[in-house]
Amino acid sequence: MRIVSTWSFGLAANEAAWPHLVAGKALDAVEAACIYAEMAPDIDSVGFGGLPDSSGRVSLDGCVMLSPSCCGGVAGVRTHLHPVSVARRVMERTPHLLLVGQDADDFADREGFARAELLAPGAREAFERWRVEGGVIDQSRDGASRSLPADEARWRHHDTIGCLALDARGTLAGACSTSGTPYKIPGRVGDSPIIGQGLYVEPAVGAATATGTGELIAGICGAFLVVESMRRGATPLEAVRDAVLRVAASYRLEPQHQAVFLALSKDGTFAHAALRPGYRTSVMDLAGPRAVEADFIALPEAPTESGAHAR
Ligand code: GLY
Repeated sequence: MRIVSTWSFGLAANEAAWPHLVAGKALDAVEAACIYAEMAPDIDSVGFGGLPDSSGRVSLDGCVMLSPSCCGGVAGVRTHLHPVSVARRVMERTPHLLLVGQDADDFADREGFARAELLAPGAREAFERWRVEGGVIDQSRDGASRSLPADEARWRHHDTIGCLALDARGTLAGACSTSGTPYKIPGRVGDSPIIGQGLYVEPAVGAATATGTGELIAGICGAFLVVESMRRGATPLEAVRDAVLRVAASYRLEPQHQAVFLALSKDGTFAHAALRPGYRTSVMDLAGPRAVEADFIALPEAPTESGAHAR
């Protein structure tokens, strides 16, 4: 029995999830973890605290997954706070897998979800500064440090909550929730709501999720790649390491880029690899809560101003 969530803010999210895990309800557990993050005003990459797009409006993406035949997602939600819960409803009540934009919000209305204000005061202030200062993102100040310890915030440019859980009955589930890249072009969607990119679960094998720059993760179908490697015999650590190395080899990287893959096998073994330092996974199991450094970092040195890596 174990839940793993991306970043240190996942510690509190895991605590919210734990009773569901003990009750043998992995899907409720990962949903509860994401709901916690979506409600926290100091988490600036998810839900209510999330930084807006370049028009000043927040849009949220999320998905849930139990298996290839049991998953759902929403993208570009603007009037509902809990994309994971709406995604779960897509999974449970429709023949579809992904709803987007206004139609996803309309679906949430029809399903009885309450509308909510998505722009927290702190995120609004950060947006106003960003607009006045000509689009320069100062991550040391623009909200990035509000939800993370300084050594994570120093490296971090953008993130997402991804959660994987193995419950007391041996069921695996996963969920992802994000507000996407800060000040993105309106309409941009990253990896998080897309099955196979930000999240993948294959019950007989294991599960994987991702956080970081969605474009890097999406382009290699990251979460699917990790689970498929495991299905073909790789250990969780080999699978996540190969995925970050694939990211490093596939793109011209910029200093703000980060990509992290987190895997949980069906026997409860977890592993996590990051493109850059400054990442921790929050773990909760019978040994208690803890935040753990990545097993493997592809580019351990600081990027230079030009984007090349010091070696
Ligand atoms: N990883 C979340 C996103 O890029 O939107």
